[in-house]
Amino acid sequence: MNFDTILIEQQESIATIIINRPKKLNALNKDTILELHQAFKFLENDTSVKVIIITGSGEKAFVAGADISEFADYNVEEGTELAREGQNILFDFVQNLSTPVIAAINGFALGGGLELAMAAHFRVASSNAKMGLPEVSLGVIPGYGGTQRLPQLVGKGKAMEMIMTAAMISAEEAKQYGLVNYVVEQNELIPLCEKLASKIIKNSSVAISAAIKAINANYTNCVNGYSVEIEQFGVSFGTEDFKEGTTAFLEKRKPEFE
Ligand code: COA
Repeated sequence: MNFDTILIEQQESIATIIINRPKKLNALNKDTILELHQAFKFLENDTSVKVIIITGSGEKAFVAGADISEFADYNVEEGTELAREGQNILFDFVQNLSTPVIAAINGFALGGGLELAMAAHFRVASSNAKMGLPEVSLGVIPGYGGTQRLPQLVGKGKAMEMIMTAAMISAEEAKQYGLVNYVVEQNELIPLCEKLASKIIKNSSVAISAAIKAINANYTNCVNGYSVEIEQFGVSFGTEDFKEGTTAFLEKRKPEFE
């Protein structure tokens, strides 16, 4: 398959998806989200693929968030649809894939980037990685499952702090809170993910896919939380703060919220 915004590499039964918009720090625009959906679907249906690694191109970013330039002028309905569509075709889709997905966080994983990493089945980070959900600094809330998956991984209190402060945490801190399983130097990131993948491959794919279903089932009581998140994400798009937050980012200045 040919894609404009992502690359796929395959070595035996390990496929690696590389988000490839380095000049925009691999920000997720609509095309990237759609192509990621197509790639995951394609690899899920390929029985030769036993593990998928997802990473970002370049040395600076995994994904620096959803593409702010694309949604800065959206209204409430468009904002709601953006969150609903993204959750359906990518974030929930990845979480529920029966092929194991490892996120190799090679740099900034912010907003939609951290949300994508959290939708993966587990995460490994390079030591330069920085993670956070900065959405409230733009006048919007985390919209791709961030308000649901972050508390599941780091606990409610730390998630509240991270979301409210919009601050980034280091890879080491992320490991301390269970957000990532390992931290290694950048040149060791993909080799470690491949090593973990090669252990996974030795086991029964059928049993692994059943285990993923069973583990995810424990979180189905959060289904309402995801709906509330979509609704509140949409509501943010009708506020002055959202206009100010996104405009300030695009104009490269600090926002001034009323
Ligand atoms: N959406 C759109 N474009 C983005 C982006 C995003 N989420 N994140 C980075 N970019 C773009 C920048 O606008 C810039 O483009 P330009 O060269 O055409 O001006 C380019 O990527 C490089 O980013 P820059 O900000 O110059 O790099 P930096 O090293 O100074 O800062 C970050 C890196 C990650 C701290 C900064 O880019 C940032 O804060 N990004 C937004 C993070 C965010 O709020 N994400 C959540 C979105 S919901």
